Amino acid sequence: MELKADSNCSFIIIAIKLRILFDCVEGEWYILEKFKWDNLSIKIYADGANIHDMLNAYKTGFVRGFTTNPSLMKKAGVKDYLGFAREVLNKINDLPISFEVFADDFGIMEREALKIHSLGDNVFVKIPITNSKGESSIPLIKKLSGQGVSLNVTAIFTIEQVEETVMALNPNVESIVSVFAGRIADTGRDPIPYMKKSVELCQQNKGAELLWASSRELFNVYEANRLGVDIITCTPSIIEKLKKLGKPLEQASLDTVKGFNKDIKVLGYSIL
Ligand code: E4P
Repeated sequence: MELKADSNCSFIIIAIKLRILFDCVEGEWYILEKFKWDNLSIKIYADGANIHDMLNAYKTGFVRGFTTNPSLMKKAGVKDYLGFAREVLNKINDLPISFEVFADDFGIMEREALKIHSLGDNVFVKIPITNSKGESSIPLIKKLSGQGVSLNVTAIFTIEQVEETVMALNPNVESIVSVFAGRIADTGRDPIPYMKKSVELCQQNKGAELLWASSRELFNVYEANRLGVDIITCTPSIIEKLKKLGKPLEQASLDTVKGFNKDIKVLGYSIL
């Protein structure tokens, strides 16, 4: 028995060493990252509306869903909303993807929501918690969720907004509650107590998952995971960094100096 365990262990160690060697040669640290991922229960969603970035994120294998919003679509130069949504859904049909309504009028918002909902089984319809006049979207959220539409309630900043959203969502329908932790931090407030309370509130609705929106740095993934947040949405640059989790600090130091060195060569300055 012992001999068998030993030979199995040796095989695993050799496999790991080969993989590390391969990954180092490739300049990536996937094997180390894999060990780290095993300790993270939070789901990573990719935030963005650039199809190339979305597909890159999809290929990583650790991204479990996608979020888009109107500002991200503007940034990505999307010209045709439905054309973009259909193209994405054609390529990614097995992971949740959130598409946001555009209207400010609740009647039109409802029609848009039903149209977006009809695009695919993996679609979540993003509804902002208020319209641009500050009128609450809660009645519409209640209505759509009651009809079985999976919603991603977005632009949530306050505990009151989380409370009323959790109460409005149908517990038998999968929904997402997006609290903008990064933008809360941008106002000089610590987002952690807000997210901690939001975790408690979302646990009261079995269909609702809490999403940490507007992440600003990779460490937010660990903060959110520690609090028991269900999902965190990450920019393409954070996703790139996630691929390199666990990189030894000596290597990180060396890579930093190599980066300086590369720029020095381009600049062509001389000090002496
Ligand atoms: C997520 O669903 C949001 O659209 C996103 O995280 C917002 O990020 P930002 O606040 O950096 O724009």
